[in-house]
Amino acid sequence: MPSKQYKNSESRGGIWRRFLDGKPEYLVRHYWWAYLWPWGVWFFDHQPIINAILFGQYRKLSQRALRDCIKNRPPGRFLQLTCAYGSLTPTLLEAMDDELYLMDVADIQLTATRNKLVDTEKERLLCARMNAEFLAYGDDLFATVLIFFLLHELPPDARERSLSEAIRVLRPGGRFVITEYGACPKKHLLWRLWPTRTVLQRLEPFLDSFWHVDLAAMLDEHARRQGKVIRQVDEFHCFSGFYRVCTFELLEQS
Ligand SMILES: C[S@@+](CC[C@H](N)C(=O)[O-])C[C@H]1O[C@@H](n2cnc3c(N)ncnc32)[C@H](O)[C@@H]1O
Repeated sequence: MPSKQYKNSESRGGIWRRFLDGKPEYLVRHYWWAYLWPWGVWFFDHQPIINAILFGQYRKLSQRALRDCIKNRPPGRFLQLTCAYGSLTPTLLEAMDDELYLMDVADIQLTATRNKLVDTEKERLLCARMNAEFLAYGDDLFATVLIFFLLHELPPDARERSLSEAIRVLRPGGRFVITEYGACPKKHLLWRLWPTRTVLQRLEPFLDSFWHVDLAAMLDEHARRQGKVIRQVDEFHCFSGFYRVCTFELLEQS
């Protein structure tokens, strides 16, 4: 039977509360319609839709992220940190011949990703439901970690914890590829036009804080705290710097 406290909070309103089920409140409150509501998942997981959301840059960004992950890939396990709409995961599995670890806090997302794969690829996808802020994987388990547009959707404290966890599970000599919005795009037309800036900030309540983060410095700080050393080896910009793909490496320690 639901507790009195839970019943009260549900009756205070907010359709989003039905999707809580152990998931982080920020995800459920702000993104239930995009990632947790079955009709939303069905709608957004169409290539033209996700491409339109990224202003036509999906292909360019996903291809670059895949290239940066796969080319001269360090030997070892590969983790995709949370699901992504579109062809990213199927294309990734096609490009690899070993297993891909995929975690997400939403079952519906893991199922949607599996449903995009052919049977032989399903066998190579190792799905687990967990929160990116508290990964259940061991230290130094992965040689490659890929994040595709997750960080700007997290509040600052959750973003810090997720990055720290990603570094913890990445082994020295490993590679970390992050696809995200670029730094605060004050000169970009989409920022200068008040309606687009307002819509973006409404739909993405944590984007503004992400725009002001120094990603490399933040990673450096978390790596240091864990006795690791990280350095940036590549940064690709597209759509006049509105988006970027950053590649980092954890240095081997002597
Ligand atoms: C990767 S992000 C955004 C992807 C991008 N909009 C796209 O589809 O191309 C969205 C995913 O992150 C997941 N997610 C958000 N916060 C999470 C957290 N704290 N732990 C695990 N998964 C999380 C959501 O369930 C969703 O599947």
